[in-house]
Formats: sequence, structure tokens, C-alpha cells
Amino acid sequence: MVYLKNLTVSVSNKVILDNLNFEFKKNRVYALMGPNGSGKSTLAYTIAGHPSYKADKKSKIIFNKKNITNETADKRAKQGIFLSFQTPMSLSGVTVFQLLRLALSGKKDPLSVKQQIDQLAKRLHIKRELLSRSLNDGASGGEKKKLELLQAVLLDPKLLIFDEIDTGVDVDALKTIAKFLDGFKKGRTIIIITHYNRILKYIKPDKVLVMVGGRIVKEGSYRLAEQVEKQGYEKIKS
Ligand SMILES: Nc1ncnc2c1ncn2[C@@H]1O[C@H](COP(=O)(O)OP(=O)(O)O)[C@@H](O)[C@H]1O
Ligand SMILES: [Mg+2]
Repeated sequence: MVYLKNLTVSVSNKVILDNLNFEFKKNRVYALMGPNGSGKSTLAYTIAGHPSYKADKKSKIIFNKKNITNETADKRAKQGIFLSFQTPMSLSGVTVFQLLRLALSGKKDPLSVKQQIDQLAKRLHIKRELLSRSLNDGASGGEKKKLELLQAVLLDPKLLIFDEIDTGVDVDALKTIAKFLDGFKKGRTIIIITHYNRILKYIKPDKVLVMVGGRIVKEGSYRLAEQVEKQGYEKIKS
């Protein structure tokens, strides 16, 4: 699904992703863990095509066998890459329906968009009232992440990256999100970025990756996440 080859990204002459090599496969959920500043968000931004994070000349990002290294974020999104930000932004005056109707114009008719939003809101336990408000306006951490998930489902991505999926999210919301994601992984790749193994109790990742200093330094099963929790990152690194 996504193949990263010699991926090196620097920001103001500081190397942040350091010759990273990895292949994320289809039908799998990956948990990407690592201490603050290890480059997790940068990796997410780089895959999504954020213009501030440019890969160097040797780097390659292959998505569905296509070289997308130099493609814009917009093109990547159209090919099926969805990134949910660590802090989802708010859009004043725009409801989730209006946003999705625009994003899906020409692909889905507004009525079916509306119906799908209603169904998903039910499954994700999103309050109806939140749907008629401006996007993320006054929403809690958990509600924002659920709304991100709702948007992701409607856009039907092949690769879904959730940055800090569990930040500011309570246990009930976490369980709802985890259950939902589990049913959503078929035919897709899901990357969950997290500090803690809290969410991983509910959604069992197929692989746990530990990132330190801009590289993936360890790869393992769920047990690696437990090990991280017990021993911390320094021990894992050495
Ligand atoms: N736009 C930027 N300008 C300068 N430094 C940045 C920028 N983005 C990220 N960094 C630096 O890159 C490193 C990795 O950051 P980040 O990817 O956000 O880490 P993580 O998500 O793992 O906490 C940090 O040292 C951070 O300060
Ligand atoms: Mg981050």
C-alpha cells in the first residue's frame, strides 16, 4: 500500500526523518509509537504531502505502486490518503454536512451524503446537535476525533492516518472509535499514532512500530506496546 524508501525530511537544516525505510501493507492496522519529537507527526504530514515537509532527492514515497513523492496534498487525498490531525481544526460557519457535500460533489448526491452522515453519527454516538453546528465548534476532544472518523468514512480512503487518536478522548469514546476502526480496516491501511497503549487495548494493532530519532527502530506485535509501557522508550531503543 505505502512504501517509504530512504525517506529523509529536514526542516530548517535539521534532519527530522532520517533515511526511513518501511512498507505499510493493506488490511492492517499499525500503531506508531514513540517519544515526543521522534518524528511521528512529521511522518504523517510527509505521507499526506504537507508542503512544509519536503522529502530529499533520494527519498521515495510509493502509494499503490505509484510514485507520489512530488505530488501535492490535494492529489494524494484524491488518490485515497486521509490524515486526521493531532488537533482537528474548526471551521466557523461550515457544518460537517456542508464540508462533505463540497468534498464529494460530483461523486455522491447530497441526499445520500446526508443519510450516510446520519447513520454514521448514530454508530459513532455523535450527538445530532453537533452536526448542525459549525465544524468542531465547541466539540470535545472525543467528539472532534469522531467527526474526523465520520469524514474519513465518507471520503472512503485507502490509507487512513490518525495522529494522536487518543489525545483528549475518554474511555467510552475510545472504545467506540476502536470498535468502528476494526470494522473499517478491510481493504485499507490504518496507521494510529499514539503515545500510550491505552487505545491498543481496544483496537488490537497488527503491528506496533516504535519511532525514535526519525527512524523506525523496532517492530513487533501488541506485546511491544506493553513493553513500551513498562520500560519506556530509552530501554527499547538500546
Ligand atoms: N515546522 C517545523 N519547524 C521546525 N521544527 C519542526 C517542525 N516540525 C517538526 N519539527 C521538529 O521535528 C521533530 C519531530 O517533531 P514531530 O514530528 O512533531 O514529533 P512527534 O509527533 O513524534 O512528537 C521535533 O524536534 C520538532 O521540533
Ligand atoms: Mg505529534
